[in-house]
Amino acid sequence: MNILLVGSGGREHALAWALCASPLLSKLYCTPGNAGIAEVAECVAIPATDFPALVEFAKSKRIDFAVIAADAQLVAGLWDQFEAAGIRALGPSKAAAVLEGSKGFVKDLCAEIGIPTAAYRRFREPAAAKHFADTIGFPVVIKADGLAAGKGVIIAASKAQSDRAIDFMFEGGFGGIAGLGASAGHEIVVEEFMEGEEASFFALSDGKIVIPLAGAQDHKRVGDGDTGPNTGGMGAYSPAPVLTAALEIQAMELFVRPTVAAFARKGLTYMGVLYLGLMITKNGPKLVEYNCRFGDPEAQVLMPRLKGDLLTALLAARDGVLSGFDLRWRDEAALTVVMASKGYPGSYEKGHEIFGLDAAASLPGVTLFHAGTERRDGKIVAVGGRVLNVTAIGHTVAEAQQRAYDAVSRIHWQGSFHRADIGWRALRR
Ligand code: AMP
Ligand code: GLY
Repeated sequence: MNILLVGSGGREHALAWALCASPLLSKLYCTPGNAGIAEVAECVAIPATDFPALVEFAKSKRIDFAVIAADAQLVAGLWDQFEAAGIRALGPSKAAAVLEGSKGFVKDLCAEIGIPTAAYRRFREPAAAKHFADTIGFPVVIKADGLAAGKGVIIAASKAQSDRAIDFMFEGGFGGIAGLGASAGHEIVVEEFMEGEEASFFALSDGKIVIPLAGAQDHKRVGDGDTGPNTGGMGAYSPAPVLTAALEIQAMELFVRPTVAAFARKGLTYMGVLYLGLMITKNGPKLVEYNCRFGDPEAQVLMPRLKGDLLTALLAARDGVLSGFDLRWRDEAALTVVMASKGYPGSYEKGHEIFGLDAAASLPGVTLFHAGTERRDGKIVAVGGRVLNVTAIGHTVAEAQQRAYDAVSRIHWQGSFHRADIGWRALRR
């Protein structure tokens, strides 16, 4: 089969790597890809935002299945455009991608079907939002609606901070930080702060049947000890010990299956990956958010643990034949350390050459997944905020961590940085 993967991050490199292992694959294309993906796929410089060009390209290459990896394309309806052109693609559709695209919609759905989550209200003007924040008490969580690459959330510790955050969002805040445009900031959600340990859980839905995939834990803050601003994710590991087998069953029964069923009742077929962001509180698991795709960097630790065939599973989801499907996972742990450019999640320099990639990649159990990299004049240079995902597999999280950091120590470029404590929650247990 000819497969097209749309995207260019570390998640996409991990997906490309797993797709390449499929016996069904004849040719893998990636648009636009990065320097690492170019080693396993033919990368074509079509921006992920140019939908007409992507559809034309897919038709011209007789693409049998398109894998859309990122939320922005799914929420903007790329699935619908591929399918309208007769190209099968991994969803969800634009209509069903509200699961991630609208925090307000999801909060209302939780209230409707009884999914445990933080108390909340939606607001379109600041005065009422500030008043509600006061009644909830501090810390309080303020969220811009719409997609925000994990950066549209402010946790305000005091009334002064909360008032400032609310004004900032209604003034169009976040429009600048992550290039979000106007979608963030029109409506905000003010919600109760949930205390606990966060975990990510993934499932795959064909619209009716949902199968569990695996769990992982991300590290969203930029600094060691979970300090500093939120990022897209600075590292991850899988499995996450906090997500016990019992909690995974609960996640399927309490959150995932009722959500897909509620979508079906509303006439929305939810087909595709379902990413559940959970807070494990002392009163049990609560929903932080849903996403409609694999996580980044979670995919980088899920894919090395996958024993079954990713492509067959994703096709089965698209074709509505997931019934009886059972994907198996290796018992080993995988851990990934994100190497980023100084300044991320704010602005950073681009174009510095990366050294030590081959030495790092040759270490036992280590795989490098590229994110913001480009090949220029035979050199690999850093062109993104998150640049590399140094991933290792081991018998334990501790072994995977030690291998990953050994590899990290071989790699450098001007202005590179990484967190030194990826995996600390698992190791503390
Ligand atoms: P979201 O964009 O909804 O994933 O939020 C980004 C991050 O903010 C989450 O991963 C959490 O770390 C944090 N967060 C969001 N909502 C809450 C909440 N109600 N209580 C505590 N932390 C939260
Ligand atoms: N790792 C967070 C995300 O992919 O949204």
